[in-house]
Amino acid sequence: MNAISASAPGKVILLGEHAVVYGKPAVALAIDRRIKCTLSPAAETTVNGRSYDPSKHPYLDHMINLFSRPVRIETEGSVPPGSGLGSSAALSVSFLKALNGVMGNDIDNERLANDAFITEYTVQGRASPLDTSASTHGMGIVVNGPEDSGEHLWDISKNESKWSVRDIRIPEMTLVVGYTGIHAATGPLVEKVRRYKDKCGFAKDVINDIGNLTIEGIGALKKNDIVRLGNLMTQDHRSLSILGVSCNELNKLVNASLEYSYGAKLTGAGGGGSMIALTDRPEKVCEAISLHGGTPFIVRTGVDGARKE
Ligand code: MEV
Repeated sequence: MNAISASAPGKVILLGEHAVVYGKPAVALAIDRRIKCTLSPAAETTVNGRSYDPSKHPYLDHMINLFSRPVRIETEGSVPPGSGLGSSAALSVSFLKALNGVMGNDIDNERLANDAFITEYTVQGRASPLDTSASTHGMGIVVNGPEDSGEHLWDISKNESKWSVRDIRIPEMTLVVGYTGIHAATGPLVEKVRRYKDKCGFAKDVINDIGNLTIEGIGALKKNDIVRLGNLMTQDHRSLSILGVSCNELNKLVNASLEYSYGAKLTGAGGGGSMIALTDRPEKVCEAISLHGGTPFIVRTGVDGARKE
């Protein structure tokens, strides 16, 4: 077996995180930050030159068990773990793409997205296929959107939940990410929302509101109405804050960005991680984010999904 490499992109979520776990619509865009995974034969399993410790690598652990031989794993990339930018999805997708190469299988994207979703679901205890499908397909995807939101890619189901995944064309726009530097694991945040939703009708209403504003956002994307889209992103941030998944650091970065943006919101699971701002004044937004303790960067969207390297 020769060394085989594959890479996959991180993502930002424009609208709909958390609510998508309960079948509501969501929109995610792949970004120009990737994780590359290289697998090669070895006498014992190692990860980046160190002997393999399953407790340190929960996502890898699930996937390594699919392969019965020891393997040397090298990962590199520019998606910080726990940043809300889809690092675990990019790792799962790139690892599984490389692993299938090692096993001589030519895996298609539908199967890859499904297998990577099962990895996230197993490790996190609950998940939607939003991140893993965005990382697999690249470009932009909408989950559980209206039929006319874009070309149908695949359906993914788990227990009673079903998600249909479509490609979505997005207008030219500039997004600035503000990273809080706070590492936030997705599983506990998803679990926090589940508990709130199961106990409280108000939380269910907020989840429905997120679903409705996401549908409206998909319409705004179609009409190229960036002003409305920005507005809806800010509303989404408020709804996510009510669900308890924002934090002071994220709120500070969102508020600081709003002066120079059409809209801003946390992206991903929250609790730290990152926010995004939709803007035509990216330098001003970057300055505001830095001034308020975040690390800003402009992201490019419209990038490739999973690929062999
Ligand atoms: C995390 O990036 C997105 C969440 O909606 C979880 C998921 O969809 O699996 C919070």
